[in-house]
Amino acid sequence: MVNEKKMVGERAAEFVSDGMVVGLGTGSTAYYFVMALAKRISEEGLKISGVPTSLETARLAEKNGIKMYSVDEVDGVDLTIDGADEFDPQLNGIKGGGGALLIEKIIASNSKEVIWIADHSKEVSQLGSFPLPVEVIREGSKHLLAYFTDKGYQPTLRVNDEGEPYLTDNEHYIIDLHLEGITDAQALSEELIHLVGVVEHGLFLDIADKVILAKDGNCQIIEK
Ligand code: A5P
Repeated sequence: MVNEKKMVGERAAEFVSDGMVVGLGTGSTAYYFVMALAKRISEEGLKISGVPTSLETARLAEKNGIKMYSVDEVDGVDLTIDGADEFDPQLNGIKGGGGALLIEKIIASNSKEVIWIADHSKEVSQLGSFPLPVEVIREGSKHLLAYFTDKGYQPTLRVNDEGEPYLTDNEHYIIDLHLEGITDAQALSEELIHLVGVVEHGLFLDIADKVILAKDGNCQIIEK
C-alpha cells in the first residue's frame, strides 16, 4: 500500500532551496518531510536553517542534523511545510490535532510561503468534522468549557494517555470543539480569539498558499 504521508513529505522537500530558512511542521506527515530534508542536507550539502514548530519536531530535527533556530532568532521564514487535519477548497484548514497549533500559527504567520502536506483523508468540502482545537490558559478553563457547552460546541478537555489534562509545549490546556461542520469559519475565528483565556485556535484561515495532496497514488499540487 502507498504511504501517502511519506509521498507528500518527500515531495515537499523538493521545494526547499539552498540557503532557505525553513519552518518545520509537526505531526506524522511532517515527520517524513523533516527526514527527507535531513537527507537532502547531508547528501547535497544544503545550508538550511530550520525553525521547528514543536519540541517534538525540534528533537527529530536535532537528531537528524538540521541546524535550528527559534522564530525570534531569524529575520523571517522563507517557507514552512506542515501537515493539516483538514483543508477545504479555499485552502482554509484545521490544525492542532497534535497540539502544536500555537507555535505552528506563529511560524506560518511569519513565513513568506506556507505549504501543507496531506494524505487524501484531509481534503474536505466543509471544515469541522475534525474537532477544532482551542488552546487555553489553564486558569479559568472550567468557565470556558461551560461557555462552549452553552453555545452547543460540545467541548472536551483534551487528556493524555494517563487521563490527565494534556499540556501543550507552552503548558496550556486544549479544549476540542466537536462542531460537526463549520458554516462561518471567519466568524467563529473572531469569536474564539476574543474570548479571555483563549490563547489561539486551530482555524488556519488564509494562511496556506499550496497543498501537496496525495490522491490516487500521485501528488497533486493545489494552489490558491
Ligand atoms: C499538529 O499540531 C498538527 O497541526 C498537525 O500538523 C496536524 O495534526 C496533522 O498531523 P498528521 O500529519 O499527524 O495527520
